[in-house]
Amino acid sequence: MAAQIRVPGDHLRVLDPAAGTGILCCAAVEELADRDPPTSRIQLVAYDVDAELAEPLQAVLDYLREWCKEKHGVRLATRLKLTDFVMDHAGALHHEDSLIPSESDDLEFDIVISNPPYFKISKSDPRAVLASNVVYGQPNIYALFMAVSAALVRPDGDFISITPRSFTSGLYFRRFRQVFFDMVRPTLVHAFGSRREAFKRDEVLQENVILHGTRLNSVPQDPQAPFVISSSQGVSDLDESYRRTTSLRAALNLDDSDRVLRLPASDEQARILDLVDSWPNTLASLGLAISTGPVVPFRAKDLVDREGHVPESHVPLLWMNHVRPMQVTWPLQRHKPEYIKRQGAEKLLLPNRNYVLLRRFTAKEEVRRLSAAPYVSRSMPVPQVGLENHLNYIYRQAGALSDEEAWGLAALYNSRLLDTYFRCLNGHTQVNATELRAMPLPESDFIVELGERVQELASPIDHLDPLIADILSAEVPREFVVAQT
Ligand SMILES: C[S@@+](CC[C@H](N)C(=O)[O-])C[C@H]1O[C@@H](n2cnc3c(N)ncnc32)[C@H](O)[C@@H]1O
Repeated sequence: MAAQIRVPGDHLRVLDPAAGTGILCCAAVEELADRDPPTSRIQLVAYDVDAELAEPLQAVLDYLREWCKEKHGVRLATRLKLTDFVMDHAGALHHEDSLIPSESDDLEFDIVISNPPYFKISKSDPRAVLASNVVYGQPNIYALFMAVSAALVRPDGDFISITPRSFTSGLYFRRFRQVFFDMVRPTLVHAFGSRREAFKRDEVLQENVILHGTRLNSVPQDPQAPFVISSSQGVSDLDESYRRTTSLRAALNLDDSDRVLRLPASDEQARILDLVDSWPNTLASLGLAISTGPVVPFRAKDLVDREGHVPESHVPLLWMNHVRPMQVTWPLQRHKPEYIKRQGAEKLLLPNRNYVLLRRFTAKEEVRRLSAAPYVSRSMPVPQVGLENHLNYIYRQAGALSDEEAWGLAALYNSRLLDTYFRCLNGHTQVNATELRAMPLPESDFIVELGERVQELASPIDHLDPLIADILSAEVPREFVVAQT
């Protein structure tokens, strides 16, 4: 992270807003002192709220100061602030016309380097209230650190952080992204592929990214600016990282207010993004909608049962467990109630039509993020069906999905193509309806043809990808012929 520092200068100011034991700010100062010629004067401001860290952190900073002087002839001035960084500086986010808070020079840094804390805070937390312009839904403290510390960097200064990847997409971080990417032009993102590796010692199960960005002078950003995507499994293979240089435009669509940061780590992933982006439809344009299963069992305790008479008194209640890729299996006869009463649950039940069912969560290291199955109404001779809240379902708003559409869409969602697309967009295991609404889909002919052919396969999940490739390769000359005539 320290090796990402780019600002030149003989006198530089460094901020570590969550210094902990000082590992990162020491690395940054070492990097500057090791330059040829070294940065001769460095000012370092380190924050932490943990009073127990005061003594060891002060000792680290004292040692660093001596080390700078004796080994490199560098003058290091340090300030340790034992106070809440966000509370201290959230005001910097509210300077309307100037990007940089102007009251005090004291607030301008050349370099921010940080490994902020990660935890959710409530919307009413004073920090979230102060940083309200980057908050939507339940905020995570790390995004407040990123936004506030970015506001304190001078134009052309360096912003470097390591955080969970979740800020790169999703509704909850949308406001954050809008503010942050108006301040910072990302120049490099390193993605750790494995959730386990990066923070092995701390057992933090998060997909993490290192971000380097340059503080902007003005918006809008230059979409042609180079952008590096680097990736490794964890820390042990960091030296063998795979690096790709692309343009900022390929990763961040600045015209789109969602500002999703997409990370195609390989050329193949970039080609898949391009292909899927070229598809003309979305669920809405196909007349389809997606909703979350309406049955929340603990709120409907009196209505859900482990046994029941179908269809006389009960209908099936489907959970995530009943949905495997391309397959709905009911009943499973496990511990959970798989039946729901018809009487009293009228408002919770759906008409027995064709749907595509999607699991809302995947197990941490599951092969595919999206797990979908066609639900074909004929398979259950019942008037209605119950869907539990951990499932999403896709339906036609006026009328019903045909069998082929249900099979074809489920096949697409389980495909490597959409899985790759999804992974480039998203670092978490939660698949929410908003993201599925935004996901491009192909022509409806394509979906129907895929549905027809996939239904005939004995084991659809094993043959989906070659089948899709086959239809796609047939598409290209077909389009070409149309264009010629
Ligand atoms: C992930 S650790 C940083 C580790 C550090 N980079 C190191 O090398 O040891 C996050 C640090 O942020 C501190 N912290 C948590 N909330 C804070 C706040 N509101 N303001 C400042 N520091 C905070 C914690 O005490 C913790 O030391």
